[in-house]
Amino acid sequence: MLLNLEKAHILVTGGAGFMGSAFIRYILKQESFKGHVTNLDLLTYAGNLASVASVSADKRYTFCLGDIRNYSLLVDIHSERKIDLIVHFAAETHVDRSIDHPQTFLETNIMGTYSLLQLARGKQIHFHHISTDEVYGALGEEGHFTEESPYRPNSPYAASKASSDHLVRAFAKTYGVSTTLSHASNNYGPFQYPEKFIPLMIQNALEGKPLPVYGKGDNVREWLFVEDHARAIWTILSCGERGEVYNIGGGNERSNLDLLHLILKEVEEVTGEKNLERLITFVSDRPGHDFRYAMSGAKVEKLGYLPMWSLEKGIRETVQSFPGVCV
Ligand SMILES: NC(=O)c1ccc[n+]([C@@H]2O[C@H](COP(=O)([O-])OP(=O)(O)OC[C@H]3O[C@@H](n4cnc5c(N)ncnc54)[C@H](O)[C@@H]3O)[C@@H](O)[C@H]2O)c1
Repeated sequence: MLLNLEKAHILVTGGAGFMGSAFIRYILKQESFKGHVTNLDLLTYAGNLASVASVSADKRYTFCLGDIRNYSLLVDIHSERKIDLIVHFAAETHVDRSIDHPQTFLETNIMGTYSLLQLARGKQIHFHHISTDEVYGALGEEGHFTEESPYRPNSPYAASKASSDHLVRAFAKTYGVSTTLSHASNNYGPFQYPEKFIPLMIQNALEGKPLPVYGKGDNVREWLFVEDHARAIWTILSCGERGEVYNIGGGNERSNLDLLHLILKEVEEVTGEKNLERLITFVSDRPGHDFRYAMSGAKVEKLGYLPMWSLEKGIRETVQSFPGVCV
């Protein structure tokens, strides 16, 4: 066992974001959890307190508005709560924004990770870093990334995440910080900000707006339902090994266009609308657009984790989570 999670005081960064909030909801759903979760979030455009409204009255939960780069705030949180574990989600996350404004990505994703590692350094705090498959760069039509694949980030976002991954490794090797790191494939599910592909397509389809698809829509992504991801992280924290890296793929590979057809089928089912495909609009491709990502999940599966959500079921759940959708 890596940690006694049931009594842990956990600092979740970015817990008002899409994935961090799903992880907090997952922890607090467990009645056996007797520890405490502090959610540190700056509430940027991507933060949404509605995503943690269902746990806001839970005595095992505290929200803290603040910046992960504010080291004295981190020290104050630790003095008050005696943090045992940091699970670090907070980041700037949208590739297109990183192409337009890379600096914010470097500041938040690199310097923010640095100040959290500084907090963990020399203390009994385990640090779990949430990273992405994008650090490995692009794949051709065949093969999968493994934990041994070389880093080849292609966007400023991916480069900032790769830099933060290297800091995590360096703090473990140089200062003996207890760390684990996981690379996740594209997550989807409720409360994702509608700039990412799946919620943008659902929202636009519901509103009868154009559905912009890069290039020919043939880029391939591997999709992971956000609840499966939360469970995978919990498995790593319970059963993983210090200093190790784990890839969490969803096993659901689809081209963007195939995925969009699946989304539209679900939207048509709940709205009774017909022929939503007429809204598909092909737009010029994103610069440096990686063709395909896919990861082998063999290592995390050895810890006892398996994804439970099929893409069809997860997309249905995601569509039904949109305001105004009646089921
Ligand atoms: N969404 C995906 O498909 C995916 C896949 C793999 C890895 N990741 C990684 O998972 C993590 C979470 O992704 P997400 O999709 O939930 O992101 P998100 O954009 O939905 O949420 C990010 C959260 O971080 C907060 N934040 C940003 N800057 C902050 C700062 N300086 N201090 C404190 N809080 C700050 C925001 O307010 C927001 O609540 C990121 O590290 C991302 O790189 C995401």
